Amino acid sequence: EKGGYDHFMIKEIYEQPQAITDSLRGRLDPIELTLRLSGLEKIKDKLLQARRIIIVACGTSWHAGLLAEYWIEELARVNVEVEYASEFRYRNPIITPEDVIIAISQSGETADTLVALEKAKAQGATIFGIVNVVGSSIARITDAGIYTHAGHEIGVASTKAFITQLTVLLSFALKLAEYRNTISPELQKQLFKEMNDLPSKVESILTESKDSIKQIAEKYKNAGSFLYLGRGYNFPIALEGALKLKEISYIHAEGYPAAEMKHGPIALVDENLPVVFIATKDRVHEKIISNMQEIKARRGKLIAVVSQNDQLALGLADDSITIPETHELISPILAVIPLQLLSYYVGTGRGIDVDKPRNLAKSVTVE
Ligand code: F6R
Repeated sequence: EKGGYDHFMIKEIYEQPQAITDSLRGRLDPIELTLRLSGLEKIKDKLLQARRIIIVACGTSWHAGLLAEYWIEELARVNVEVEYASEFRYRNPIITPEDVIIAISQSGETADTLVALEKAKAQGATIFGIVNVVGSSIARITDAGIYTHAGHEIGVASTKAFITQLTVLLSFALKLAEYRNTISPELQKQLFKEMNDLPSKVESILTESKDSIKQIAEKYKNAGSFLYLGRGYNFPIALEGALKLKEISYIHAEGYPAAEMKHGPIALVDENLPVVFIATKDRVHEKIISNMQEIKARRGKLIAVVSQNDQLALGLADDSITIPETHELISPILAVIPLQLLSYYVGTGRGIDVDKPRNLAKSVTVE
């Protein structure tokens, strides 16, 4: 059932172009460049009245939520808060009937996320689900929602589910921006077009960078620790890259906003520390280049995910992985792919059963 692959994780990484296509099917019209999200239409009035949106999730799904905060605030100009479901449910959060709560969950069964939603519902908020498993508990209690359509995910580490969460959340942000008139038709069409090109761009990363990522993994697989740094749209991707590595390689890894590095983590940098930069061309590119120079000056090993033809970043990095150019709002969706592969090859290189890493469960139904 692994279809010729060694593990479900790598099979699911390779299924991502198809998963993106499936999550856009019937929603994004690639010819007219229009988007239809019937789940969103159901709560349109509530959304237009909402003073803020609160996103609740755990783990990788929380990382998707963090990126959604950047997207929704940029495109739709609505205040967004992103909460760990476990923290949200146990404090005394301020929830009003004007709030829209979005839960993001692959399994739709995560106990903390489910209870956080029940609590918000009891206080009159509108609750919305972005879920992969059809008919799951979270899907059933929400007022409306959008399924991610990633297909059945078996590997414990979330890969194709995450990619489709991002696809759906960007669609959500774009549709909300359309409702609120905060986006120009030109930018909207450009982003729809770029979204439609995502499957082929992901495919090209999977075929073109596999061998070099394998070599990078081999070179660093015995490191004691990794640091992942990104800024802006790539900050949530740094967090996700670090989580993926620790889950399936058992190497300690920390994700950080690149500029925060000088407020502490820079003390860790020496010639034994691999530092993974997500440094694609965007509005903060110059800033991240100077962060890379700071690490290099302290002899840290620079591994960088960069845009094609970025000679400056390529010249600085000890090892680099290039990804195709796209709009800066879309590039985090591409940038996570090399990081998934890196963790897969580090994990397998260390002889770990990446489909069933120790101590982890696919669906966390106990708190
Ligand atoms: C990491 C991973 C977990 C889940 C988390 C939430 O690869 O899979 O961090 O993302 O347990 O699970 P769901 O999305 O099912 O609520």
